[in-house]
Amino acid sequence: MEKQRTVAIPAEAELARQMEYIRQIRQQNDEYFKKTGEQKKFYSLAMGCQMNAHDSEKLEGMLDEMGYIRTEEETDADFIIYNTCCVRENAELKVYGKLGWLKHYKESKNPNAIVALCGCMMQQDTVLETIRKKYRHVDLVFGTFNLYKLPELILARQESGSTIFDIWQQQEEIVEDLPSIRHFPYKASVNIMFGCNNFCSYCIVPYVRGRERSREPEDILQEIRALAADGVKEVMLLGQNVNSYGKTLEHPVSFAQLLRMVNEIDGIERIRFMTSHPKDMSDELIQAMKECDKVCKNLHLPFQSGSTEILRRMNRKYTKEDYLELVRKVKEAMPGITLSTDIIVGFPGETEEDFQETLDVIRKVRYCTAFTFIYSKRTGTPAATMENQVPEDVVKDRFDRMLHVLNPIVHEVSEEQVGRTVLVLAEEVNKQDEHILTGRTEENGLVHFAGDKSLIGQMVPVKIIENKTFYFIGERV
Ligand code: 5AD
Ligand code: SF4
Repeated sequence: MEKQRTVAIPAEAELARQMEYIRQIRQQNDEYFKKTGEQKKFYSLAMGCQMNAHDSEKLEGMLDEMGYIRTEEETDADFIIYNTCCVRENAELKVYGKLGWLKHYKESKNPNAIVALCGCMMQQDTVLETIRKKYRHVDLVFGTFNLYKLPELILARQESGSTIFDIWQQQEEIVEDLPSIRHFPYKASVNIMFGCNNFCSYCIVPYVRGRERSREPEDILQEIRALAADGVKEVMLLGQNVNSYGKTLEHPVSFAQLLRMVNEIDGIERIRFMTSHPKDMSDELIQAMKECDKVCKNLHLPFQSGSTEILRRMNRKYTKEDYLELVRKVKEAMPGITLSTDIIVGFPGETEEDFQETLDVIRKVRYCTAFTFIYSKRTGTPAATMENQVPEDVVKDRFDRMLHVLNPIVHEVSEEQVGRTVLVLAEEVNKQDEHILTGRTEENGLVHFAGDKSLIGQMVPVKIIENKTFYFIGERV
């Protein structure tokens, strides 16, 4: 296995190299088309977070340049790529399930199909061992630091005839300007930083995505200007902890400063960002959010647990009171802002009293949405070896009780939107009914409304007429 490698080649030269490999593969695929009349097809699946979804846009962009066309049918593909997640065990089990199925697919239907695995799960040694032993039909395995090497790895696989493993432990240089296919024409994700330095004690991310690296502001702005020129109206700035953006740059820039610069870009109408860590959410940032007219009135602010003692053992570096005070400041600065969050139930040692503190935060903050998770033990993290792991039945019971508190609040918070007339960025046609469009409000509410598909990509004034808790029914005005 190739490990601990670092790249000495500068990023631009690296990009040029990969573009040359892309050209070679394209030539092969074009010849295949001439011979058979068929185009090679790829199937791409991104699991987990928005970071992975965005990484997959780049993988798909490269595959497209190589002359593969996308298929939504896994059973029809010549190239299958899973961009994996390992934040919770379930995500990993899903990959193993799919690999079992793929073995059969290759044996019975398409022995030449290439199966590629990449992303967070592949950064773990135990996973690589399992793949070596049990899933020999996998062709390519790479991680989170070298996805731009996909073209080179495909050629290497052709030459070697055996599984290629290419896993790196870190990557300093950021390879800019990879081809990419956006999942939506009018909204786009933009990485502003990679990795995480926080080491929350339950979380595997810092081990699989490495240390924090911020992109240069000028590279980010240039990308967003190009997106705007291409018709994009809404950008989502992505990072594991955007609030600490820019601290490690040679000329440090704060996230608040970056927001102000993005706010100046013509054509961009909405700015969103995730994820914010409460410990790094500065007054300067709240002020910038308030003053930048394009920054949406919606904030994703994970609190994880309401118990100060659990937060301490999670290594979150804030108390319940700090969090509530922060929320107070945010709401005071931006009345009407909606908040969403992430919550973990069943962290080791969580008592009923600790759990009640979590319910208390839910009741006090009143979220418009929350992503709720049962604690999942991740080997290699400090929490995995903590004493007092909470029994499964206790956790399940708490989880259900939490939803009983949370869902009525989400419904009530949504009720506040009913009767308002708001701008909805029309994003797509409803899959069941082509006369219905779907889009989001500034506050990130999902709205279905009757309208023609020519409205896609526009900011449409819509009156919210019905609250369905997790989405709204609206009417064009
Ligand atoms: N178990 C359960 N949830 C987790 N998360 C991260 N690690 C774990 C884990 N081991 C959740 C956190 C984080 C979100 C992306 O995933 O809530 O904010
Ligand atoms: Fe994981 Fe904490 Fe980093 Fe988020 S901030 S990615 S939860 S370690």
